[in-house]
Amino acid sequence: MQLPDEAIAYDYKNLLVQPEDWTPAAELRAQHFLSPEALQELTARVLQVRSQVATDRELKQIPPKMQPLQAGFINLPQNMLDQHKRQGDTSTLGRVLQLAARLRDEVDRFVVLGIGGSYMGARALFEAMRSSVHNDLPAKDRAGTPRIYFEGNNADNDTLHELFDMLSITCVDPEQRDERWGVTVISKGGDTLETAAAYRAIRREMIEYYGHSAYTKSLLVPITGESGKLRALGTADGIPEENFLPIPDDIGGRFSVFTPVGLLPAAVMGLDVRAMLLGAAAMTRRFLEARFENNPVLQYAAVNYLMHTKYHKPIRVMSIWSKKLEALGLWYDQLLAESLGKQGLGPTPITALETRDMHSRGQQHQDGARDKVINNLVVKTWSNPAIMIGMSDRNEDDLNRFNRKGLPDVMKAAFDGTNKAYHDAARPTADIVLPVISEHTLGQLMQMLMLATVVEGRLLGVNPYGQPGVQAYKANMIELLKQQAQ
Ligand code: PA5
Repeated sequence: MQLPDEAIAYDYKNLLVQPEDWTPAAELRAQHFLSPEALQELTARVLQVRSQVATDRELKQIPPKMQPLQAGFINLPQNMLDQHKRQGDTSTLGRVLQLAARLRDEVDRFVVLGIGGSYMGARALFEAMRSSVHNDLPAKDRAGTPRIYFEGNNADNDTLHELFDMLSITCVDPEQRDERWGVTVISKGGDTLETAAAYRAIRREMIEYYGHSAYTKSLLVPITGESGKLRALGTADGIPEENFLPIPDDIGGRFSVFTPVGLLPAAVMGLDVRAMLLGAAAMTRRFLEARFENNPVLQYAAVNYLMHTKYHKPIRVMSIWSKKLEALGLWYDQLLAESLGKQGLGPTPITALETRDMHSRGQQHQDGARDKVINNLVVKTWSNPAIMIGMSDRNEDDLNRFNRKGLPDVMKAAFDGTNKAYHDAARPTADIVLPVISEHTLGQLMQMLMLATVVEGRLLGVNPYGQPGVQAYKANMIELLKQQAQ
C-alpha cells in the first residue's frame, strides 16, 4: 500500500536476537531479547486479532460479554473528514473550526478544564506543537492564538487559585480582547468531581468578571455527552446550543483525542486539525491493510506483548528524545494503564524524558532489574536551526574541541551512546521514529498507539475499553464528602 508522506515507523531490529559468537553478554541477549521465531509464531494470532478488531467496529448489537465496546475511535478520523466534506460548517469538524476561529478572535487566554482522557490529549498536542514558552510570548508572536491553561485535572486548591489570581491581575477590562478569557469544560460523563468543582468555581469567576453579559455564555464551550449534569447545567445557564460540542457514545475518554475533546483545544491553539485527522485516518488504513512487515500497529503490539508476557518485562518505558513530546508520553501512560491494567494483568507504563532522565532513571535502566522494555520515541528532524557550541575566548569548560558541533549532534551522540550501552548490557530497546513533529505525524502516532493498545488488550485477554477500577476511589471520595457534609 502507498504510505503517506512523513510516515512513521517502528524499528525493532535492535531487540531481536541476532546470531553471534558466545560471550557472557551474548548469552544475556539470547535470554532477554526477542527471538525472531517467537515473533513469527505470534504473527498469525496478531493478524486474527486485527480481523476481530476490524469486525468489532462494525457491530451494531454488542453481546454482554464484550461490553463495553467503544471501537468508534477507529473509523472516527475518516468519518469526521467525510462528514465535513458533505456537510461543511454544520458537520462536527466544521463547528469545531468555526467555534475555534471565533474564540481565537475574541480571547487572549483560554482555559481547558478536564481530566484523564478529557485533557491529556489536548495537553500533548499543545506541548508538541506550540512553543515551549507560548504563554510568555506577546500576542503578535503567538500567531493570533490565545494563551492556553489546563485546569480541572486535579483537586489542587493552590494551582486553581493561582490561575484565578493571574486572570484577575491581567484581565481588568472585558471589552479589550487582550483582557478577555474563555473556557472549555470537557467531561464525557459530565459528573467527574475534579472537573465539575473547578467548573463551578470558574463559572463564579466568569460571572464576577463579565457580569451577566453575553460573554459568560458565548465564551464558554461545554464538550460533553448527549445528556448528563454538565449538559443540564449549561442548558440551564442559557449557553447557546451552538456552543455545545458532542463526545460520541461509542468513544471512550482516552480514545477521544480526535473528537472535539482534542480537536477544539487544538483548533483554538491554531493547529491544522485536518492534517491531524488525515494522519490518523492514514494510520487506520495502514493498520487494516498493510502486511505485518509494514504495519507499525501490529509490530508494536506484538513485540511489546511478547516482551511483557514471554520475556517477563512488565515495565514499559517510553523513552522520549524530544522535550516537546513528554506530555505525549504521559498521554500514553494513561492509555496503557487504564486500558490494560485489569484482572491483575497489564504492563506498567513509565515515561522517561531524555537526556534529562539519564540523570535519574538511567542508572536503573542500565543496571537495575531486567524487567523493562524500552521504546525510544525519536524525531529525525529538529524544527529549528542547530544551536552550535561554537568557539569561545574562554575554554575552561574544554568545549572548543566540539566547536563545530551543535545540540542536535550532542543529542544524537547521547541517543546512540545510550542505546549501545543498553545493547551491550542486554537491555532491549526499539524505536518509534517520527520524521518530524507535525500535526500529520502526531495524528499517525496517537492513532497507532490507540490501535496497538486495543490489539494488545485482545492478545492479553482483557477488554481494553472501560476503567471499572477507577470507580472505587470515586465512590469512596463521594462517600467521605457526604459524611463530612452531614
Ligand atoms: O479514559 C477515560 O475514560 C477516563 O480517563 C476519563 O477520560 C476520565 O475519567 C474523565 O471522565 P469524564 O470525561 O467523564 O469527566
